[in-house]
Amino acid sequence: MKATQEHLKDKLQKALSKTFGNEYANCDPILVPASKPEFGDYQANMALSLAKKLGEKPRDMAQKVVENLDVSDICEKPEIAGPGFINLRLKISYLEAQILKVNNDPRLGVPIAEYPKREIVDFSSPNIAKEMHVGHLRSTIIGDAIARILEFKGHDVLRLNHVGDWGTQFGMLITNLREVSPEALTTANALEIGDLVNFYKQAKKRFDEDEDFQERARQEVVKLQAGAEDTIHAWKLLCQQSRQEFQVIYDLLDIKLEERGESFYNPLLSTVVEHLDGVGLLEESDGAKVVFLEGFKNRDGNPLPLIVQKSDGGYNYATTDLAALNFRIQKEEAKRLIYVTDAGQANHFAGVFQVARRAGWIPEDVEIVHVPFGLVLGEDGKKLKTRAGDTVKLRDLLDEAISKARTDLENRLKEEQREETEEFIANVAKVVGISAVKYADLSQNRTGNYKFSFDKMLSLKGNTAPYMLYAYVRTQGISRKGEIDYENLGENVKIILKEEAELILAKHILQLDEVIAEAEQELLPNRLCEYLYQLSEKYNQFFEKCPVLKSEEPIKTSRLALCDLTARTLKLGLSLLGIKVLERM
Ligand code: ARG
Repeated sequence: MKATQEHLKDKLQKALSKTFGNEYANCDPILVPASKPEFGDYQANMALSLAKKLGEKPRDMAQKVVENLDVSDICEKPEIAGPGFINLRLKISYLEAQILKVNNDPRLGVPIAEYPKREIVDFSSPNIAKEMHVGHLRSTIIGDAIARILEFKGHDVLRLNHVGDWGTQFGMLITNLREVSPEALTTANALEIGDLVNFYKQAKKRFDEDEDFQERARQEVVKLQAGAEDTIHAWKLLCQQSRQEFQVIYDLLDIKLEERGESFYNPLLSTVVEHLDGVGLLEESDGAKVVFLEGFKNRDGNPLPLIVQKSDGGYNYATTDLAALNFRIQKEEAKRLIYVTDAGQANHFAGVFQVARRAGWIPEDVEIVHVPFGLVLGEDGKKLKTRAGDTVKLRDLLDEAISKARTDLENRLKEEQREETEEFIANVAKVVGISAVKYADLSQNRTGNYKFSFDKMLSLKGNTAPYMLYAYVRTQGISRKGEIDYENLGENVKIILKEEAELILAKHILQLDEVIAEAEQELLPNRLCEYLYQLSEKYNQFFEKCPVLKSEEPIKTSRLALCDLTARTLKLGLSLLGIKVLERM
């Protein structure tokens, strides 16, 4: 009810200026949601600080403001509590009208951003020929949710996959490829080298053990940088194979991304270094070109350098990010750059952002944010590993979630003696399994570590995807049972809010716009998760306390509308988290 709060704030400011004079027209009434339901819905707390300033008793001040406050169209008569809080309780008639408005709005009361802008979300970003690990999974899931929220708010979002597709490691990979599958290099066929990760390990082993191999790998790097045709061809083959493997994961998770890997910025790297030199930031340190960072010190208390060109002349991760940042601001005209990576890269980004700022590359109207997240831990509290101690393959992890969801479902079907088609079972298992993984991740405050537990995330109870999907299924169950098409309830439904559970649900539904605005600002999808979890709980309480199909008209239609509105709110909210709903499960 952001609009309601704004409205009340306006009215309070009018009352303030009427009471104390025009200079108070912009005074902050400190209007906040009430801390307890018995205080109403909102509290205005300015009387306390004002009283100090004006040397009067806070209660008297509050009294004077209330006398000049006209909120009768929205609230019951304001009450003054404690030392001078003004308590405001929304009128039921007002809530009914608001619910009706939201009910008739396809966006459910969430306005398009006042100033839609171009925003770039840099997320997922795995590395070629390496494992896409759980860190990338988190980045993928969180980045996608952020992008969805921004898109829904009407921003022009560019979803960029900053794939690690360049670097000296390609020297050894291509050298190995020439030895393992020479034929791949001369035919136009796709690469067939099986497991790329093992291929990487094999190449690394050779590189470490064989000096001759090392030398050839080095020459290959030189050829790659010079753009030699056969080397570039081999490089493309490797990228292509990795890309296919990543795509399997993206398809499973329903993720859309535009690939713009590190190699894209290659032609711009030398200019970055020249520019830094031009503005006088560049220094030499042990043969490398660096910018010394302000506020970052190493163990000996000396300033920390950000290396932008190594002593061998090569560029690195930071140089590429500086070039990318510049490109995104200059060429893409983005007004907000969002980078979703593990918290371990916080210093890297702090360094890059600082250098870009000092170089004068970040205009005032451009915002740059690193969105960090914690580690994925196993149930033992240590970094997630397979039983054999290897890194967990994402494909395996998602498959296991789906297969566990399937077992749960089959057990439930047996218990309930239900028959379902294979198609139904496969679809429910997939949606539940994938949603559970996504939701378990998103519902955590991303800045912390989180413990990965299939049992917890697949449970029908608690703050889980299945719990919410089930609440949605209940809303659809009612319409099936009553043979009611929610869409035909019509625009002129009368909303009647009587029971406590009904009021609580309605008030919660009306908070969607506020929650989304917050998630948009703070880039914290867990706020939206918390909201949806509470919505499901409140709906379940309503479901228990307020008969729907058995009620008389006009209560029946009003409650059906509330069920439908809950369903649409859940569906929309979950869709912003990248989660699909099920009609039955
Ligand atoms: N490829 C990097 C990794 O796997 C993540 C890249 C993040 N994006 C960026 N612009 N640096 O850790």
